[in-house]
Amino acid sequence: MGIIINNKKDTFHLCNQEISYIMTVLPNGQMGQLYFGKRIRDREDFSYLLETIGRPMASCVFDTDKAYSMEHIKQEYGVFGATDYRMPAAEVIQENGNRVSEFCFRDYRVEPGKPKLPGLPATYTEKEDEAETLVIGLEDERAGLRLELMYTVFAKGGIIARSARFLNRGEQNLRLTTAMSLCLDLPDSGYDWIQFSGAWARERQPKVRRLEQGIQSVGSLRGHSSHNHNPFLILKRPPADGSQGEAVGFSLVYSGNFLAQAEVDTYDTTRILMGIHPHGFEWKLEPGGEFQTPEAVIVYTDRGLNHLSQTFHRLYRKRLARGYWRDRERPILINNWEATYFDFTEDKLLEIAEKARECGVELFVLDDGWFGRRSSEHSGLGDWIANSERLPDGIAGLAQRMEDMGMKFGLWFEPEMVNPDSDLYRAHPDWILSAPGYRRSHGRYQYVLDFSRREVVDHIFGMMEKILSGAKVSYVKWDMNRSITECYSAALPADRQGEVYHRYILGVYDLYEKLTERFPHVLFESCASGGGRFDPGMLYYAPQAWTSDDTDAVERVKIQYGTSYCYPISSMGSHVSIAPNHQLNRSTPLRTRANTAYFGTFGYELNLNLLSEGEQAQVKEQVCFMKKYRRLIQFGTFYRLQSPFDGNTAAWMVVSGDRREALVGWYRTLVGVNMPYTRLRLQGLDPGLEYHVEVQGSYVEGPSVHEAAAGMHYGDELMYLGLITTDGSSGENEGLQSCDFDSRIYILKANDR
Ligand code: GLA
Repeated sequence: MGIIINNKKDTFHLCNQEISYIMTVLPNGQMGQLYFGKRIRDREDFSYLLETIGRPMASCVFDTDKAYSMEHIKQEYGVFGATDYRMPAAEVIQENGNRVSEFCFRDYRVEPGKPKLPGLPATYTEKEDEAETLVIGLEDERAGLRLELMYTVFAKGGIIARSARFLNRGEQNLRLTTAMSLCLDLPDSGYDWIQFSGAWARERQPKVRRLEQGIQSVGSLRGHSSHNHNPFLILKRPPADGSQGEAVGFSLVYSGNFLAQAEVDTYDTTRILMGIHPHGFEWKLEPGGEFQTPEAVIVYTDRGLNHLSQTFHRLYRKRLARGYWRDRERPILINNWEATYFDFTEDKLLEIAEKARECGVELFVLDDGWFGRRSSEHSGLGDWIANSERLPDGIAGLAQRMEDMGMKFGLWFEPEMVNPDSDLYRAHPDWILSAPGYRRSHGRYQYVLDFSRREVVDHIFGMMEKILSGAKVSYVKWDMNRSITECYSAALPADRQGEVYHRYILGVYDLYEKLTERFPHVLFESCASGGGRFDPGMLYYAPQAWTSDDTDAVERVKIQYGTSYCYPISSMGSHVSIAPNHQLNRSTPLRTRANTAYFGTFGYELNLNLLSEGEQAQVKEQVCFMKKYRRLIQFGTFYRLQSPFDGNTAAWMVVSGDRREALVGWYRTLVGVNMPYTRLRLQGLDPGLEYHVEVQGSYVEGPSVHEAAAGMHYGDELMYLGLITTDGSSGENEGLQSCDFDSRIYILKANDR
């Protein structure tokens, strides 16, 4: 790894064994992008890559040069208005109304490791030799504005982390109306664009289309990253697929409004922009003021989409997530939400917990409804004091009872919200985001607290701190159940209202930081009506997130499959719930619900007392299975094998670091009669090792699949000719062997020799 600087040519070459990222100071002083991709050797002069060709109708920078137009030059941080016509990375309005800027190279510095981004989540290093950071200093002299572009190259993996910082060194007030984290100009447009979109209960489903001339983008203006579009994007070079080919992933470490965009011009070059959504954003930079953008992470691979995902997984698991729980196996939990909703008493909770404990579950999570006068969605949010009618001895009493029973105890909060029917709102009606004189739109009968205000964040911290320090709480589920509307803060002046969305998120990060610092052993799980804020920003504080409110196994396979393109398995909250399912009314076998939920943090979301004895016995086995394999699942190498978006079956697998152990999850939506032959090619095994394959499947009894797949197979057989998954089920007289929504787990263990 290293940063090679050619002072004669003003060229910077960031590289490790996998990638090269090369940029240069352009003749007009701005920064030009020369190359990003597979590692190439360094050379004295890369200037031939500039490709300045005189083109008709071009607007040009220099009187003497008809070929030098910023419109045709690939840049590091393009600005609009001085011969570049593409959407810009930054826009600054000066006091005289001018919007033209010109950021010219001034200096650079190289730092070992990676500096922190103040107030923001970001990837980090533990040792200095894990990464190196280049900070390029640019200046717009007329505006008195310094711009620092920060690039970190990691020693391992095709990873570049980027961000930008603006420093007002002049004497005028500046208005920053666009400040992207990342601008990357690529020399062609030969890519498929993959975005991860959906809605509540069907989050992060991959949508693929060819990159075309014009602008394509996804983003959020909801105040949170959203169920609708994830701040993650892949450009894939056809015919790349799961196991081979080139792809670039772009991920924004941020939880608020974002934009991820590709602009393909009519010369087929592509500009990627990623950062805070410019709509409604405006940051006032007073003399001496600074603005730091969130971080964007770029990953390049020439080894297919699984390798791309694995690079993100490793980085986000080890160098974005932090704290006590980062490397620890996650507790198997039971959550009472779908078991009781708001209808519970302490005795009922204890009854649910007792059965779960008997089945081996380790942690009981008390969800919504334990505080204030919260008996429905209409009241109580903001009053983080235990409801003494339901919990006579408060949270401390209940938590102690759980501990006495041998269960850890966890608690739900929705810190950013308030119901109008609450003591908090009655005391501080001006603490919510609302536009003066306008309607106050609600979501789920609640308002959004103005987290851009320090006193609001401090007040909520005080209440949560009291509960968490007064009781044995080991886990917190931090929920967020509505998007922001009427985004206006009563505490900020008119010329700072464009800052509210971002200041709000900074307030959320601030509260997370305070709480995780104060309670370092508490496991935090983030949630936003399921997966409405499943983003890298949250993972910095909470190493796991509730993936979706949809707990139906068939839907969950899709959601978890889509989520896995960027996010590690250890981050995906996944539970077994009751059948028929509460979101879809679909009944799936208990084993399929577990076989899906294993590939995450695992837990239950139902009252186990309501299951039959046979089902309870199954639950015990499931918990044992998960305890045995959770290290492999949560910290192994994950491969997607067959997409649920492409057909009737889906499959994925995890492989241990030493490749001696693996688990394969296989899922089928509908069963058929007399079905075709099928094989599943595995990945990541050692071709020379002999593996014992055991099937935990659907068959009550019967031939075929178990016999063909089970037994001893070499890694090369399993990867190159495949695992036989043919299903002879549902013939005329075979009896009931398989069914709709069936699934299997294959357990692979290398033979000891
Ligand atoms: C959200 C969460 C659920 C549950 C409810 C409680 O919808 O996603 O898991 O916590 O809130 O109100």
